[in-house]
Amino acid sequence: MRPLIAGNWKMNGLTGFSAALARAIREGAPPVAAFCDLLVCPPATQLAAVGAILAGSAVALGAQNCHQEPDGAHTGDISASMLRDAGATAVILGHSERRANHGETDELVREKVLAAVAAGLLPIVCVGETDEQRRSGRETETVGWQLSGSLPQGFTGVVSYEPVWAIGTGRACEPPQVEAMHGFIRQELMRQFGREAGAAIRLLYGGSVKAHNARSLLSVPEVNGALIGGAALNADEFLAIARAAAPR
Ligand code: 13P
Repeated sequence: MRPLIAGNWKMNGLTGFSAALARAIREGAPPVAAFCDLLVCPPATQLAAVGAILAGSAVALGAQNCHQEPDGAHTGDISASMLRDAGATAVILGHSERRANHGETDELVREKVLAAVAAGLLPIVCVGETDEQRRSGRETETVGWQLSGSLPQGFTGVVSYEPVWAIGTGRACEPPQVEAMHGFIRQELMRQFGREAGAAIRLLYGGSVKAHNARSLLSVPEVNGALIGGAALNADEFLAIARAAAPR
């Protein structure tokens, strides 16, 4: 499967920074785009400007969240079609920071996935256990519930496994733990959507992916790419991670 290397810029980036980062990624993209798909997800306020910089390049544009309704009285929210209109082709949904800080439930994430698909966006759905859930041996159970609750029937988007304790901590999940969880997720996807459809869903790993650990994480079976936070704010680091996805 062709890997997907995606950058989640989170709540970072004013105009000057975002433009410089997008330009640097665009310039460095062609050699890595030969073997992987590249995606950057800036904050909503930078979508149009970053999209203009990336237009015609090998780097796709994504958003970090959308509302579940197509339009209406939802002050401060942004619909999936608005993101599409601003140039996005993908959207991250159910990130643990949204689940924790905004109380997003699996059911809400599923509604957002449906809204994203209806607007023509590729949904990237995040799942992952907390430190406490892993310590008590409930990591697969937790992720299993998130998968069955967050993914609607006929789901054909991307799933990203992001253990909460590995996000922004510099403590990435060890490759054997990633292998076990991605193997479990693949089984679950095939159970939920059938063998063929479940096997075709791209499965990313996220959580402290850096240039120095990217190769070992990206060579784990059933890891089809990475969702990168902090390291995606530096073009050299982001592109170095993408290079680590080269076939070997
Ligand atoms: P870090 O790469 O900063 O750990 O963040 C991962 C993440 O949350 C990507 O969505």
